[in-house]
Amino acid sequence: MPSIHATDSSVVEDILVVGFARDKKSKKFSIHSGDLRFNSAPILEALDDLGASAAPDEIIKLPGSSTKLVVLTGLGETKNEYPHEVLRRAAGAASRALSGHNSATFALPATEITAFAAVAEGALLGAYAFDEFRGSSKAERKPALKKIAVHSKNAKRSDFQKQLTRAEVIAKHTHIVRDLINTPPSHLTPDSFCQRFKKLAAGTGIKIEILNDDQLRKLGYGGIIGVGQGSANKPRLLHMSYVPKKSNKKTKRYAFVGKGITFDTGGLALKPAQGMEAMKSDMSGAAAVSAAILAIAELKLPVAIDAWAPLAENMVSDTATRPSDIITIYGGKTVEVLNPDAEGRLVLADAMMKAAEVGKKNGLDGLIDVATLTGAQVVALGTRTSAVMTNNQEFSEKFLQLAETTGEQFWPMPLPEELRASLDSPVADIANIGDRMGGMLVAGLFLKEFVAPELPWLHLDIAGPAYNDGKAHGYTPVGGTGVALRTLVALAESAASQ
Ligand code: BES
Ligand code: MN
Ligand code: ZN
Repeated sequence: MPSIHATDSSVVEDILVVGFARDKKSKKFSIHSGDLRFNSAPILEALDDLGASAAPDEIIKLPGSSTKLVVLTGLGETKNEYPHEVLRRAAGAASRALSGHNSATFALPATEITAFAAVAEGALLGAYAFDEFRGSSKAERKPALKKIAVHSKNAKRSDFQKQLTRAEVIAKHTHIVRDLINTPPSHLTPDSFCQRFKKLAAGTGIKIEILNDDQLRKLGYGGIIGVGQGSANKPRLLHMSYVPKKSNKKTKRYAFVGKGITFDTGGLALKPAQGMEAMKSDMSGAAAVSAAILAIAELKLPVAIDAWAPLAENMVSDTATRPSDIITIYGGKTVEVLNPDAEGRLVLADAMMKAAEVGKKNGLDGLIDVATLTGAQVVALGTRTSAVMTNNQEFSEKFLQLAETTGEQFWPMPLPEELRASLDSPVADIANIGDRMGGMLVAGLFLKEFVAPELPWLHLDIAGPAYNDGKAHGYTPVGGTGVALRTLVALAESAASQ
């Protein structure tokens, strides 16, 4: 993780990052350095000749006069005020372009505190590298930018300082999620996932409980067992619980449940080889919820959180679940497994049932599951927008509003009742697949069967956005992205301020 600080100094000696934009009509460029005075005239003259466009993700590096280097990062069309996500991405793109360098000062239009926070967050999120598994090529790799300064005339204000700390916590935990996603299943099993969080949670006040396969079998977690039984890497259920120091009856309480398939081969419904490697990311939901609770605890937010990660490896073997097998989910509902590749909903069903049972004792304000659940999500919304499904409109709207502030792209999706019948089974309470059309919604309807109607519930399908197998952009690297963590933390913050 890079270090970060704020500065109000008018002298910048290292690398200077500023924003630039282009007017839609006049096509004139403008440079935006926020509170920092900056002589942009000589650069402005050159931009046309350089073939610049100022589009987002465009980076132009120029030799500076007083600084070593001036880095222009595209803000798009000229505006009076730039949306926070534009600033977050522009800072992130610059950060990424500066890997191999030691330090840089970010002077972007960020006078207002939320804009300042977005720049800090973007710069930190962009400074990420995953080189853990490089052997002989490690030495040739450029490490991520090490030192970040954010320029602001308010650098000394304590509320601005507080935003830096928050950005650090967010980035640190997003990097944890990315690392876990990028770690291949040879090095990340259900048990090693648990062990990592056991270490991370030490000293945080978070209580941690890990159920092994024998316990899961005995206690009736038929979903997690059924999905994990084909693998030598035995399944687990990780439960982390955070209760703030000053908690009372009014303290809000949420349960987060994350899909934790450390690798999804599809089981006996084996996936095609092409692209299967991306299924190392099928534990993105579990990583997001587990890291989110760490972040919430580190920020000492006055809200109680339970994070649940049902973990299993979906493999092909003589012990794997067969199509037509019937399993019993925690709580007693039976499921006919028609397709062992629809495994996420099975492990989630177990964990959601347990989360509600535990939550009931203390009064649960909401349950959120986070999952790389369906290919249909990617078909419907693409690789950058996640889906939100719900049994509670108000909860969903609130979440979407928060996502607007964090810059994470979520979009509401319906749970049409008429699709439910397609999940009927001739032999069990429900089948694990239904209509192929609207597959994302059908998966949501399956999960809905495992939530009491009075419990506010959100289902986040992050199948596309969790893993970037295209090019890096903004603050998003190739590979694991860490999506959902920021909005989960924002939800905890908003619950805390109520
Ligand atoms: N993990 C996959 C979903 C997925 C696909 C995530 C692409 C990320 C990118 C999930 O377990 C799965 O295989 N879903 C099936 C469900 C189907 C069998 C009903 C799918 O979407 O094809
Ligand atoms: Mn699958
Ligand atoms: Zn899966």
